[in-house]
Amino acid sequence: MKLIVGNQKSYLNSDAVDIFIDNLNTIQKKDNILICPSSIYIERFIQGDIRTGCQNVSKNKNGGYTGELAVEQLKSIGVSFALVGHSEVRKNFHETIEDTNIKILKLIANDIVPILCVGETDEERENNETIDVILRQIQGALEGLSTYDIKKVIIAYEPVWAIGTGNVPSNEDIEEVVATISDFFFDNYQFKAIILYGGSVNPNNIDTLNEIKGIDGYLIGGASSKIDEFIEIINKCQKED
Ligand code: PGA
Repeated sequence: MKLIVGNQKSYLNSDAVDIFIDNLNTIQKKDNILICPSSIYIERFIQGDIRTGCQNVSKNKNGGYTGELAVEQLKSIGVSFALVGHSEVRKNFHETIEDTNIKILKLIANDIVPILCVGETDEERENNETIDVILRQIQGALEGLSTYDIKKVIIAYEPVWAIGTGNVPSNEDIEEVVATISDFFFDNYQFKAIILYGGSVNPNNIDTLNEIKGIDGYLIGGASSKIDEFIEIINKCQKED
């Protein structure tokens, strides 16, 4: 069963959230679906009986940090997953690999599963740096974690140039990166990592993406805020099972 994670970014207003929750709850098998809504709606999703994560966390503990979401606060309301290292956060909030690492250490310490987003920019891809960039992002983010804790981390491969653009790498290119990530975890820590693909996943390309070997699921942005499209993707993935 593919893991389907929705990253709703800041797309939805309040009314649309109610409609989204009601419609998602018409789906019978929801165990593999996880939504990361805007933080103001997190509790609504949890109360709506939907597995809920958050889109970003603070690297600071709870205290005098205006506008931040402390991991301890998220834990206290029942958040069980968190995106970390998303390229929009790396870019817009100048998050460094060290910051991502601090956040992952805090998440693990608070029993929240990190979904570590990694991916190359267009320029890095053209310079053939994709694999180097991704392995650097992964190694840096996992610094200081035991093998036991590394096994809890989910990886989302999201080429930066594919996010929100409608451009998706070929299946062969995704498969190559996913295989490299998989080998990295197998060679260094002897386990099969959970690896998602993200970047312009939509109902029109999901059947093609489902042909890729080694992918455990998807991280879906834009299409996860349009309930019809999202349900279509879920149905197409469940048909595969
Ligand atoms: P997208 O976003 O599906 O809109 O490309 C994916 C993401 O940013 O996680």
